[in-house]
Amino acid sequence: MARTQITGGFVITAAEEVHADVLIEDSRVVALAAPGTQSWTADRTLDATGKYVIPGGVDAHTHMEMPFGGTFASDTFESGTRAAAWGGTTTIIDFAIQSRGRSLGEGLDAWHAKADGKCAIDYGFHMILSDVNESSLKEMDGLVAQGVTSFKLFTAYPGVFLSDDGQILRAMQKAAGNGGLIMMHAENGLAIDVLVEQALARGETDPRYHGEVRKALLEAEATHRVIKLAQVAGAPVYVVHVSAEEALHEIATARHKGLPVFGETCPQYLFLSTDNLAEPDFEGAKYVCSTPLRPKEHQAALWRGLRTNDLQVVSTDHCPFCFTGQKEMGRGDFSKIPNGLPGVENRMDLLHQAVADGRITRRRWIEIACATPARMFGLYGRKGTIAPGADADVVIYDPSAEQVMSAATHHMAVDYSAYEGKRVTGRVETVLSRGEVVIDRGEFKARAGHGAYLARSTSQYLG
Ligand code: URP
Ligand code: ZN
Ligand code: ZN
Ligand code: ZN
Repeated sequence: MARTQITGGFVITAAEEVHADVLIEDSRVVALAAPGTQSWTADRTLDATGKYVIPGGVDAHTHMEMPFGGTFASDTFESGTRAAAWGGTTTIIDFAIQSRGRSLGEGLDAWHAKADGKCAIDYGFHMILSDVNESSLKEMDGLVAQGVTSFKLFTAYPGVFLSDDGQILRAMQKAAGNGGLIMMHAENGLAIDVLVEQALARGETDPRYHGEVRKALLEAEATHRVIKLAQVAGAPVYVVHVSAEEALHEIATARHKGLPVFGETCPQYLFLSTDNLAEPDFEGAKYVCSTPLRPKEHQAALWRGLRTNDLQVVSTDHCPFCFTGQKEMGRGDFSKIPNGLPGVENRMDLLHQAVADGRITRRRWIEIACATPARMFGLYGRKGTIAPGADADVVIYDPSAEQVMSAATHHMAVDYSAYEGKRVTGRVETVLSRGEVVIDRGEFKARAGHGAYLARSTSQYLG
C-alpha cells in the first residue's frame, strides 16, 4: 500500500474551506486532519503550505476527436486528457456519437475504441442521439445500466443531429422512466439555416455573421420549447452551453416554478464576445462555436446566473480545430467553419480568475467546476470532492502564481489559444489522479493509459 500525505494546505470543497492535512492510501483519500495534529507515516509527503488543495476538475462537456464538417477535432483522447491534467482537470465526460442509421451501441463502441488505453485521466461518456427511433429508444435503457446515464439531443444542425419535437419528447419520456438525463443543444436550427442562406446570398461571408444568424432569440425559443417538452414528459432537462441572456431567462423562469431544469455555460461565453468574432483577417474564425459568442452585455447575466444557481455547471465544450487547415475551411463561407473552441486546459484557471476578480467565491468555484458536474452526472463521492472514500483526484493550486495564456505554452493540440495573452492569477502546481502524480511542478508524469473509464450512476442532483 502506498501512502501519500499532503500537508499544510488550505483545502477547499463546495461545502467548506479549512486548513487541513490530507492522507491518501493508494487511489483513495482516507483522512483529513487539522494541520500537524496527526503523526501519519507516509511514503511521500507533498508540501502544500501557502497553496490551495482542491478536488480535480470535472469537465462534463468535451469532444475529443469529434468528426465535424469533414474534419476531426484536433485533440485526441491522448493529447486532450493530457492537456486537461495540465489545467487541473482529472475527469472528463466526452460525447459518444450515434451516426444516423446506426445503433447507439455501435457509436459507443467506436468511442471506447478511441479512448481505451489513451487517457491520462479518468473519463466517462454521454451519448449523442442523432437517430431517435423505436430501437435506439429501447437501447437507452441498456446504456443507463452500463453507466452511460445522459443523452444529448439537438434542436440544431438539420440533417445531421437535429431531432424533431416528437423525437425529443419520446427520448425525454424514456429518460423519465429509466433515470437518464437529457441534455439539450437548444437553438432553432431550421430557422438558423434560413438566415444562413439569406446572409450568404447577401455576400455576408465573414465569421462575424455566424454570430448574427444564430440569434439569441432562436436560442431562447428552443430553450423554452425543450423545457416545455420536458415538463410534458415529466423529465428533468439539462441545457448545454447556454450563451444568451434570453435563454438563461427561460431556465430561471422554469426553475423559479420548481421545475428540474438545469443549465451549463462555458468559459468562452463568460470571457469572450462578438468582439472576438469580428476580429479582422478571418481571425474571428477562431471563435466560431455554437451556441455562438454573444455581445459583451450577456456576460453579466451569465455571471449572475452562476451566483444565483440558475446556472449550475461550467464545462468547456472543448472542441478544438486548428486555424490553419481547419478553421480556414470556411474562408468565404462562415457556415463551413468547423464549430468549436479549445479550452479544456484553461477552465480551472479562468474560473479562479473570476474568484480573484470577486465574481464568485472560492467554494462556488469548486462547486460549479468539480462538485456539481460530478453530482449532475452520477460521479459524486468518487469525484468532485476531497473526503474519506473519494478518489484521490487532488490538485495543489498556487493562488498567487501569475501566468499568461498562450498557444506557445499550452498543451492542447491546437495552433491558437482563444485566450492568447490573457494574464491570470493562479496556477496548477501538482495534480494527482487516483493517487498517482500526473503533473508535478511543470512536469508531466502520468503513464499512458492511466485514465480509466467511469461507469456513472444516474444523476445525484435531481433530488
Ligand atoms: O461549437 C460547438 N459547440 N461544437 C461542439 C458541438 C456542440 O454542439 O456542442
Ligand atoms: Zn452542442
Ligand atoms: Zn433564479
Ligand atoms: Zn458540445
